[in-house]
Amino acid sequence: MSLTTQWDDGEHSGTGKGRVPTCSNSQPSMVFSMLDALNVEADSCVLEVGTGTGWNAALLSERVGSVNVVTVEVDAQNASAARRRLGTVGYTPTAVVGDGAEGWKPSAPYDRVLITASLREIPRAIVDQTRPGGIIVSPYATEYGGEGVVRLTVREDGSASGPFVGSSAFMRLRQQRTQRKHVREYMGGKPWPADGKRSTTGLSPDDVGDWLPMFAIGLQTTGVFPWAEQYEDGSYTLWLRDTDVTSWATVDYVPGAAEFEVYQAGPRNLWDEVRAAYHWWSSQGRPGFDRFGLTVTPDGKHYAWLDAPEHPVPTVEHTA
Ligand SMILES: C[S@@+](CC[C@H](N)C(=O)[O-])C[C@H]1O[C@@H](n2cnc3c(N)ncnc32)[C@H](O)[C@@H]1O
Repeated sequence: MSLTTQWDDGEHSGTGKGRVPTCSNSQPSMVFSMLDALNVEADSCVLEVGTGTGWNAALLSERVGSVNVVTVEVDAQNASAARRRLGTVGYTPTAVVGDGAEGWKPSAPYDRVLITASLREIPRAIVDQTRPGGIIVSPYATEYGGEGVVRLTVREDGSASGPFVGSSAFMRLRQQRTQRKHVREYMGGKPWPADGKRSTTGLSPDDVGDWLPMFAIGLQTTGVFPWAEQYEDGSYTLWLRDTDVTSWATVDYVPGAAEFEVYQAGPRNLWDEVRAAYHWWSSQGRPGFDRFGLTVTPDGKHYAWLDAPEHPVPTVEHTA
């Protein structure tokens, strides 16, 4: 279990919950599986992004020596509390307050980089500051949802590539958080279903709602994200919207039903796109996280693949 240690970027205080958790001590099994994937050696020079409580920085300092560890935290309050804790138990890594997406050039190049907040893009600075042959371990989230830990090896040409090693659910890197427009902004002031075209689907919204299919859908679609509006009787409406605020779709889930009512509006048929992405994933034998991988090209483009970089995951065309 993870333990939340900060809410709302520190604006919330007291014992109750705030609105959004913004720092936590990650789940121990996740911390150790990511350290396992990082595969540090006795003298590895390591950069950690997201100091948080300082626990990971302490583990790394114990393994490679404080002198070989740099940890970057964007939140000054978290950073100073972590530095104090680390000092109390005798660890003195270089603890920097700043945007970890920029890495920390003065101590580069690094043999290993561990990112402990989720990313939608691996920052160029992180790849550039990792020596060829070095390893980057990071949670990688798609716009649609679903997230996995990726283990990238950096090459001489400035690219980085490697497999996903499991699923994860980290808080986003502060600068990569999403801000959503209200549903009414999509409806042009009209009540639902506004200009939506009605159809039905045999694919249950429940089938596309688990973390793994969400991840697979997110790798294939661009700028689509879901939200479920739950009702007391166990039914719910799956809303799909696009980040450009041009299109929306709803799919009504009713327990036990074989057909589900769909409305789609705007230039993109978002349910058709999600359904196509789901069917591709299903047609490949419903691969797990560990059959997917990611490549970051020397010019910074990202593409996901299945089994090998020669088999890119297809991108679903925008439907109309
Ligand atoms: C899940 S916590 C990290 C857990 C931490 N590694 C530990 O051992 O406790 C995520 C941390 O990332 C920090 N963070 C978010 N965006 C960041 C950024 N751009 N640069 C550095 N740290 C960031 C958050 O403030 C938060 O403290």
